[in-house]
Amino acid sequence: MSRITTTRLVEMKRKGEKITSMTAYDYSTAKALDESGIDFILVGDSLGMVVLGYENTLFVTLEDMLHHTKAVARGVSRALVVADMPFMSYQVSSEQALVNAGRLIKEGMAHAVKIEGGVTVADTVKRVTDAGIPVLGHVGMTPQSVYKFGGFKVQGRSQDAAQRILEDAKALEQAGAFGVVLELIPRDLAAEITESISIPSIGIGAGPDCDGQVLIVDDVLGVYTELQPKHNKKYADIRSIMLAAFKEYIREVKEGAFPTEENSF
Ligand code: KIV
Repeated sequence: MSRITTTRLVEMKRKGEKITSMTAYDYSTAKALDESGIDFILVGDSLGMVVLGYENTLFVTLEDMLHHTKAVARGVSRALVVADMPFMSYQVSSEQALVNAGRLIKEGMAHAVKIEGGVTVADTVKRVTDAGIPVLGHVGMTPQSVYKFGGFKVQGRSQDAAQRILEDAKALEQAGAFGVVLELIPRDLAAEITESISIPSIGIGAGPDCDGQVLIVDDVLGVYTELQPKHNKKYADIRSIMLAAFKEYIREVKEGAFPTEENSF
């Protein structure tokens, strides 16, 4: 089976084929997603929250991203692997961004990187793509600006704010991004952006008219319980299964029911 490429994702938009994406942070989950036929896996800096237990993504380091991206890349043979550039790994200068994006590709074995922001990061996106590294943009509710936004809130509700997000998406397209994540924006705005750009829009909390969708795997599986975002759909309640299994194991060990002869040498 041939590897999904960024050009294939752009072609999928052109043909009207929906693009699927989910986050993963470890080998086994990435392998299962890949086997399921996901188009691209995002090693999101959301790992700071769902894997590392921070209250937001600002504490994630490039070393954290490298560690988890490598694990994901080892589990994947078909899907495209996109690694998030963490907070302060690309904001200081385009040179800094290029060096760090290069590390995610060379050491992390990612195929592309994701950068949050629009007009203000367009030069950086151009610098990185000009060096041959594909960039996925990210506009709307950009979690690395959570302190500025005052929380994980829907963006682009006013006409001015909506216009700015549309301009951000267009600036990313101009700069050479192969796609753009639209996070937590009204569905009509997402539809308008999707119509206005030739690169795929990947929605999360941006309604059904985007070219593709991305969700956080721990939300989908019902493992992460600190936030219950309205845009998520919990496709399974794995946490309940985990609790039941853990309790059963503890009971059996306490009662001497495990291990048995079968588990012994
Ligand atoms: O970090 C992440 O998982 C993301 C998604 C919310 C798109 O950026």
